[in-house]
Amino acid sequence: MVCLGNICRSPLAEGIMRHRVREAGLDWHVDSAGTSGWHSGELPDQRSIFTANKNGIDITDQRARQFSRKDFEEFDRIFVMDRQNYANVLELAGTDEHRAKVQLLLGALGDERREEVPDPYYDGGFDMVFEMINEACDHHIAELTGNMQD
Ligand code: 4NP
Repeated sequence: MVCLGNICRSPLAEGIMRHRVREAGLDWHVDSAGTSGWHSGELPDQRSIFTANKNGIDITDQRARQFSRKDFEEFDRIFVMDRQNYANVLELAGTDEHRAKVQLLLGALGDERREEVPDPYYDGGFDMVFEMINEACDHHIAELTGNMQD
């Protein structure tokens, strides 16, 4: 899960995906990172911690880190929150195989008006961001485990 700062959106995405993966009894390695290193080593934003907590998810074990080329080797799927993240991650991709791992988290939901998770850092909207990510995680788990309903 990748965003810009790795303190607002992607920590929520990591927390939600971990939670859903555990619920589904899956053994997947889930992590998050930022395209920038601006907040490296920091806890998630208090508003993300609060929103996750309200939904029964603890993300206080997370610390921000910067996305790196090594992540293309370590992960099978790289979900980005917005198109700027997509462009920044693709700049680091060395092969077509790496490029093919990168996708917009909301891209597969099929709503062309809502392909990006908006950055809540300045304007808020953490509850909406949580819901968007939650829906997307359900979708991806169903798809990746071959349980799509429609
Ligand atoms: P995130 O949000 O990419 O969802 O973690 C942001 C966090 C920090 C900044 C921008 C966006 N910033 O400008 O420091």
